[in-house]
Amino acid sequence: MKHQPNVVVVGSINMDLVVEADRPPKMGETVSGQNIHFIPGGKGANQAVAAARLGAHVAMIGTVGRDAFGSQLTESLTANGVHSGALKVIEGTPTGVASILLAQGDNSIIVVPGANACCLPEDVEDHHSLIEEADVVLLQLEIPIETVEYAADMAKRCGKKVILNPAPARQLSDQLLANIDVIIPNESELALLSGIDPDSDLQLERAMRSLLDKGIESVITTLGAKGAAYMTRDGQRGTVPGYKVQVVDTTGAGDSFNAAVACSLAMGKSLADAVSFANQVAALAVTKLGAQQGMPTRDEVSQFKPAHRWEQ
Ligand code: RIB
Repeated sequence: MKHQPNVVVVGSINMDLVVEADRPPKMGETVSGQNIHFIPGGKGANQAVAAARLGAHVAMIGTVGRDAFGSQLTESLTANGVHSGALKVIEGTPTGVASILLAQGDNSIIVVPGANACCLPEDVEDHHSLIEEADVVLLQLEIPIETVEYAADMAKRCGKKVILNPAPARQLSDQLLANIDVIIPNESELALLSGIDPDSDLQLERAMRSLLDKGIESVITTLGAKGAAYMTRDGQRGTVPGYKVQVVDTTGAGDSFNAAVACSLAMGKSLADAVSFANQVAALAVTKLGAQQGMPTRDEVSQFKPAHRWEQ
């Protein structure tokens, strides 16, 4: 079994402007908040940092603006051990920003892509060699879809395992799906991609099976506090119940899960082991404020002693 997995992330980099308030304002209303935090985020960067903290060798392909957020986010990636040599600075376009409201135990997010919209297929082509060296290529949907399609196609042609977190939700071409080995949607993303509302065990199974029918090897659906379900084309399937933990902030929980699956599969672990590990990583990630700053290290995961699990 490999000891240091090699993961390449092609994706978004945002500064998260996180506001804590008692409740969200209604349209046209002003409410007082308690705190604001500037925390590195973006689904791609979150997954890169999470994988690096779990011990992977990680390189990230992405774009930032030539501004203070761009410099801070690049420094944060480097400080977390992510190879940032493949990041491109875009002139005249601001770094991506996510405005995140934390209220009543949940979050709502508005993402302004900024420089992420300038992450193009040629940026992936320029770093072809990183993908050739990778065990796993990890993708999300916060950069242009042409770039995701290009990266998936290149990675597949290089014989790499391609993992797609289809977030934020959108329709995807059959051609892209055919290049994906493992897809990791949440329930609403699964509903959009399959056209089936997974509101019962049977419907969840039908929805996941419909993605397998499009040529994907494995589907893992994250179920929030309830854990995750997985299913493969060769007949493996299972569910992993979530852990009961003290939730501080769920932002980035899905990102931590995706990164943990990527690391485990890159190390040659089974899908069942990867899902179980990712479930622990995500449980730890929600106990801290902020996306990237809440990502646990491998040591923290090995010391994790959960008290309870949700009933299945
Ligand atoms: O998945 C969480 C991320 O989504 C946040 O960090 C925010 O930047 C948005 O992209």
